[in-house]
Amino acid sequence: MNDLTPTREQRTAALEGMGCKRKRVEDIRFTQGKGNYVDDVKLPGMLHGDFVRSPHPHARIKKIDDSAALKVPGVLAVITAETLKTVNLAWMPTLAGDVQMVLADGKVLFQNQEVAFVVATDRYAADDGINAVVVEYEPLPPLVDPFKSMDKDAPVLREDLVGKMSGAHGPRKHDNHIFEWTVGDKELTDAAFNKAEVKIKEMISYHRTHPSPLETCQCVCSFDKIKGELTIYGTFQAPHVIRTVVALIAKLPEHKIHVIAPDIGGGFGNKVGAYPGYICAAVATIVTGKPVKWVEDRIENLTATSFARDYHMTTEIAATKDGKVTGLRVHVLADHGAFDACADPSKWPAGFFNIVTGSYDFPTAHLAVDGVYTNKAPGGVAYRCSFRVTEAAYCIERAMDILAQKLNMDPAELRLKNFIKPEQFPYHSALGWEYDSGDYHTAMRKMMQTVDYAGLRKEQQEKRAAFARGETREIMGLGISFFTEIVGAGPSKNCDILGIAMFDSCEIRMHPTGAGIARMGTKSQGQGHETTWAQIIATEIGIPADNIMVEEGNTDTAPYGLGTYGSRSTPVAGAAIAMAARKIKAKAQMIAAYKLEVHEDDLEFDIDGFRVKGLPEKFMSMKDICWAAYNSVPPGMEPGLEAVSYYDPPNMTYPFGAYLCVMDIDVDTGVYKVRRFYALDDCGTRINPMIIEGQVHGGLTEAFAIAMGQEIRYDEVGNVVTGSFMDFFMPTAVETPHWETDFTVTPSPHHPIGAKGVGESPNVGGVPAFSNAVNDAFSFLGSTHIQMPHDFWRNWKAAKDLGAVA
Ligand code: CDP
Repeated sequence: MNDLTPTREQRTAALEGMGCKRKRVEDIRFTQGKGNYVDDVKLPGMLHGDFVRSPHPHARIKKIDDSAALKVPGVLAVITAETLKTVNLAWMPTLAGDVQMVLADGKVLFQNQEVAFVVATDRYAADDGINAVVVEYEPLPPLVDPFKSMDKDAPVLREDLVGKMSGAHGPRKHDNHIFEWTVGDKELTDAAFNKAEVKIKEMISYHRTHPSPLETCQCVCSFDKIKGELTIYGTFQAPHVIRTVVALIAKLPEHKIHVIAPDIGGGFGNKVGAYPGYICAAVATIVTGKPVKWVEDRIENLTATSFARDYHMTTEIAATKDGKVTGLRVHVLADHGAFDACADPSKWPAGFFNIVTGSYDFPTAHLAVDGVYTNKAPGGVAYRCSFRVTEAAYCIERAMDILAQKLNMDPAELRLKNFIKPEQFPYHSALGWEYDSGDYHTAMRKMMQTVDYAGLRKEQQEKRAAFARGETREIMGLGISFFTEIVGAGPSKNCDILGIAMFDSCEIRMHPTGAGIARMGTKSQGQGHETTWAQIIATEIGIPADNIMVEEGNTDTAPYGLGTYGSRSTPVAGAAIAMAARKIKAKAQMIAAYKLEVHEDDLEFDIDGFRVKGLPEKFMSMKDICWAAYNSVPPGMEPGLEAVSYYDPPNMTYPFGAYLCVMDIDVDTGVYKVRRFYALDDCGTRINPMIIEGQVHGGLTEAFAIAMGQEIRYDEVGNVVTGSFMDFFMPTAVETPHWETDFTVTPSPHHPIGAKGVGESPNVGGVPAFSNAVNDAFSFLGSTHIQMPHDFWRNWKAAKDLGAVA
């Protein structure tokens, strides 16, 4: 080795592999305005479609008159449910086993529901056309409150289901009932409650909100009549699933459908499902023979495409006097709106809500979820969440604080007392999951030490005394959240979408000069996959990440995958990437052995190539192996160096974290200040620490928004009153607190690189931390639980109701 020979550290650094804070390669185009989004797609002769929407939440449609609209210059067609019936597309299946109107068929079931689709030469003409369509409605009584949906005299919403007392998930109790889902041991749980020394019971609501990505949902559909091929450019988090759905419902051969998801400006679960806009644009292109673009505006996005949450969770914990939990009982009333369009794996009507036992060793638990219809937009998507895990984490983390308050015990101490212990992993929860790995005590203690938890509690006592003496009008809250996530849907044994197992895939092709291309079934919406996926390959095969191009989102080129949502990309596709890379490496080893004239077993992998054991100078770099793969492979071996992996994970991964929020609230104005927010995440092996930090910052900002004000709210007659960014809280840099991030590393034992997902964690853990801080502050005034969102007005109202404000 001479002075110019790179050291092992230099060779490792040159790869920019796992663990490296590699800069995001996609930002080169994003920061220069060179991204290519759906609205950038402009095809020759392209038409524009837009919707006539219902002003009523519940009404019968008496008549649709399009005669004036068809006279508007530029308007070419007005599509209604009657038109769609001619091609059997008036209704479409949902991912949750329900059916949904594409365009209002006989009646409307929520405000802003799609009634007719106007196709015109440009967007302005389409808009003029919309205003000229005359719809005659006969208003019907609206059903807004989910708690009244199963009343005897409740208006029946879904006339198509009248008399069908069984749905996709079993028996229905009422015409407005969708399903009942129960898990756990009821008898054992009831027995635990019967002999409990201490019990708490609280109705904890997680209000309706919306993922509201910067870029709304949109598509361009283009049908080639000669070839009989349909190309769809769209904002799709799961392009292959969209292709299959289109093939099934439009009865087109799947190989004649090309789905392309170009750059996506945020998804957060909003872009998983299929929406009427996609169907109408596809029908319109087939009818007109011209490409048709549909782009949602902000109000349409907030009021008509999928909402999130709307879970009302009656939660009970049984415990001993010294704070050991002995049982958990939860009943959820789930408001699904007009159609059950939840984007959950098929068998899970309430997603993975049965992770509700959280990080605690509950000997027994029982859960029942009732899904109901109301006159609200359909959905129930996993907004930066792995299928109702956010709701579950909020439920248990709020309930643990309520129990601590009842026991007069510190909430951190209560958690430490009940955590699943490191030696209990793999841990079988009372509601049926097998947690892969965890070290909760270490994470919690690190958090408490870093923030000086004891010091903060002391300061809170002093502030409370000062408040009592009338020296301050501020109350201080400490909000702890210790969450366990379940991400990586998922194992084919329990997860599928429309019958397709939720595996994921990767194909890697190495070129002769030591560069390559990797394609996956996932689709980044801002998570930085182009950067991190190349890092996994770099470490696995010893080729610099810069030499690997990552391509996602084209169903013609990528292997079939189930897409990106619920932090499944790293647990599932990340594993497929490592497995495909290992296949490449195995073939590379055979080629190197042939070239170095040794047996394969005599070689060892050394950072960026293979070395003969005991003979360090006999080395062949991976770059040289790539060249050899195309000119001198061993006799009988096929040339080339490529591999595909379809990975069906054996289990989910269970990331976790310890968060703390320090907040001061002025009781006279309700104005809060987030003084400090600390977030410790454990997502196993960390691929790119900088990207993880970015994911945590983004997720915490969404959690802050949800907990402190963001809400899709309906008035008592079914009008959406938070349908634009004037009313729907979207924090800017001005309101967003400063985030402190930290980590521990507990690898997943079953994942090839030990990684767990992280993208959802800050939303899952953040919301309870904020809400617990508010509730901790108000507990001093005698309150047990204040419902989210905790905006200024509600804080002031709480202070007034508790007698702190005259
Ligand atoms: O499915 P989604 O991409 O939304 O979530 P994820 O799997 O949690 O990954 C989000 C981003 O964080 C990706 O770019 C991952 O590569 C990165 N990540 C990481 O660097 N290390 C981990 N252990 C987990 C995720």
